Amino acid sequence: MRLGVIVLAAGEGKRMKSQKPKVLHPVAGLPMIRHVLNTVADVGAMAVAVVISSTGNEVREVIGEDVLYVVQEQQLGTGHAVSQARGVLERRTDEVMVLYGDMPLLTVETLQGLVQRHRQVREATITMLTVSSEDSMNFGRILRDRRGRVVGIVEEADATEKQRRITELNCGVYCFEADWLWSHLSRIPMSPSGEYYLTDLVGMAASEGRSVEAVGVEDVTQVQGINTRAHLARAEAIMRRRICGRLLNRGVTLIDPNTTYADMTVEVGPDTVIRPNTCLWGNTRIGRGCIIGPNAIIRDAVIGDGCRVMASVVEEAFLEDEVSVGPFGHLRKGAHLAKGVHVGNFGEVKNSRLGPGTKMGHFSYIGDATIGRDVNIGAGTVTCNYDGVRKNPTTLGDDVFVGSGTMLVAPVEVGARAVIGAGSVVTRDVPPGSVAYGVPARIRLKSESEAEPDEGAQAEMASTDKDDVNA
Ligand code: UD1
Ligand code: CA
Repeated sequence: MRLGVIVLAAGEGKRMKSQKPKVLHPVAGLPMIRHVLNTVADVGAMAVAVVISSTGNEVREVIGEDVLYVVQEQQLGTGHAVSQARGVLERRTDEVMVLYGDMPLLTVETLQGLVQRHRQVREATITMLTVSSEDSMNFGRILRDRRGRVVGIVEEADATEKQRRITELNCGVYCFEADWLWSHLSRIPMSPSGEYYLTDLVGMAASEGRSVEAVGVEDVTQVQGINTRAHLARAEAIMRRRICGRLLNRGVTLIDPNTTYADMTVEVGPDTVIRPNTCLWGNTRIGRGCIIGPNAIIRDAVIGDGCRVMASVVEEAFLEDEVSVGPFGHLRKGAHLAKGVHVGNFGEVKNSRLGPGTKMGHFSYIGDATIGRDVNIGAGTVTCNYDGVRKNPTTLGDDVFVGSGTMLVAPVEVGARAVIGAGSVVTRDVPPGSVAYGVPARIRLKSESEAEPDEGAQAEMASTDKDDVNA
């Protein structure tokens, strides 16, 4: 069976009071319609058509071209919306599922259940999701005959007092036998409100003696569309609970799931502990045995095994294993911290590579730099990478010792094992193994410095205490 799917997303979503199309509002980090499309893909759709309005171009831009788009020029109702997709789906599909772009909480299991039931029933014409709820949510009511067969759907606005008391509701999610659907859409009469109701097809099928099946949904939250910011907030909370549940199942400890804000797209390895108030956003991947948080914000970052990130912001950065960051570190785009690196409080790293074992304990800025292994970056070291016009590179070789309060005026290169005295302003390259000190820094080659270390240089070279740096 070739399953085609029509996602209705042409409604204006006025109640959101937003410039942005409703279906693009994010839930757990993804536009709500992206959740719907991901779920639909997991059900095994051959072709997906998204019905957008003439102002829905932004949907197309954001969601991309892996689905077919059809434009519904005027919002003449759900039946009219579905008929717009006929042209792109008719030759590709034997069965058609219809659902809405504002139902991000629908699960794969629910949709699979619908499709399975549709396929089990011989000559199934329509199979749909229904839910029992005392709160009508303004949904259409399911009408059944004495023998319990579905004979129609009546919209709330058109329902009699008695019909309004019906608690079985139409969720707006259906499977249709494709040929029957295409041949009947044009027969839908205009409703008193001037719309073409897709729901009228149910009555039509029943009166033709065709099979109409209802599949009950237990969890009403799955089928509550998002129409307001309040609905959006509720959906966010529900989705977040689900994501936390998935992390817990995979062996991640969450100290407080209520304050763990993980996007759908995030992966975390087993035995990692997520402490309270932690945001894990975007394409973030965290390894095993890490301790993240409290108060961490991590976006689009890759973090290896055995890392610690406390009260810090990590964005588009790459951390190898056993890296520790924080408190109050900021790793920005292109920061690459090799194994065992430590970035302590008020350290900022941007577009730089720090080699294995390098330590940067306090108040430093490293930008556009390549730093070797086991380098000690003293408190308050700054790469002066921007000259007002362009960004310039800094290179520090292995085992360099940078004293506190050093300004590295880029472009500049410091050779391996060089020592830079505290408070230096390094404006020229420093050869390997030499000592640089003062403002602007003078350079003493290694042999000299070993011969007679002068007192001034000794004082200037004092950095923060080594234990402290490594803490
Ligand atoms: C619809 C059903 C109702 C069901 C409810 C469940 C009809 C006539 N009624 O009612 O039985 O209980 O869904 O949520 O189908 N849309 C378009 N183009 C249009 C009209 C709507 O794309 O011309 C889209 C909207 O963006 C929305 C969806 O279809 O995502 C549902 O439309 P809406 O007007 O909200 O339907 P309801 O009146 O709630
Ligand atoms: Ca409506």
